[in-house]
Amino acid sequence: MRIDILTLFPGMFAGPFAESIVRRGIDEGLVKIVLHNIRDYARDKHHVVDDYPFGGGGGMLMKPEPVFDAVEAVRQQLRREEGVEHVDGIPVILLTPQGQVFNQRMAADLAKCKYLVLLCGHYEGFDERIREHLATHEISIGDYVLTGGELPAMVVADAVVRLIPGVLEEGQWAEDSHARGLLKYPEYTRPAEYRGWKAPQVLLSGDHAEIARWRREESIRRTFKRRPELLVGVALTTTEKLLLEEERRSAALADAAPVKSEACPMKSGRPEIGKG
Ligand code: ADE
Repeated sequence: MRIDILTLFPGMFAGPFAESIVRRGIDEGLVKIVLHNIRDYARDKHHVVDDYPFGGGGGMLMKPEPVFDAVEAVRQQLRREEGVEHVDGIPVILLTPQGQVFNQRMAADLAKCKYLVLLCGHYEGFDERIREHLATHEISIGDYVLTGGELPAMVVADAVVRLIPGVLEEGQWAEDSHARGLLKYPEYTRPAEYRGWKAPQVLLSGDHAEIARWRREESIRRTFKRRPELLVGVALTTTEKLLLEEERRSAALADAAPVKSEACPMKSGRPEIGKG
């Protein structure tokens, strides 16, 4: 796979792509990441890439010309260097807070593409013509606003690269949270007992069928407690439905009283952040 990233800040990508699994994917020739500085495509002598929005309002917008020219240059490179005939079919993905919220299914779909172009916004956003006539998709990494699309592009690239066949060992991600629509079960490693906290006995039993059953149930429990909306699309056996009913009953009974502290006004005693 080749990922071309268009940005005003190519230096931001040096760290994340030089380490760990993405680095391994690059070193093993499974993925090539090519950075392009959009400013190199500005036509005036001051290399201006942004301008005031028509109609007034705060902030600056990315101008269309350098962005269109940068994408066209990437397409030409792909024709020349990779022999791609139908460059118009390559996804050009805009990273913006207004896009489709990124998830594991989208990562899996993108991992099937041979080429991806990621376009990072900066300032207050893009001239709408970039969105209408250049981008094929728009992705947000969540309902919050970052200073630019660079961190989101790194997030998308990371999530996609680890799914490219050969980057991780066979089956290593099959049990990931979200891979099967559920959150991952709890895991433990040595020592079997630490500060008096014991790893569940079943995991030490060597009984693989029993371990698989325990893990599946813990996944269901955890998903119910943290992300109940995810359970809607999951096929459950009759036993698993009963387990869920039991969880629902005990959750209704134990609604812990939240406590606030001066150190942080967030309520403690509940695992959710951002809920008052
Ligand atoms: N640019 C700024 N915030 C963003 C977000 N949440 N997702 C994608 N791109 C962004």
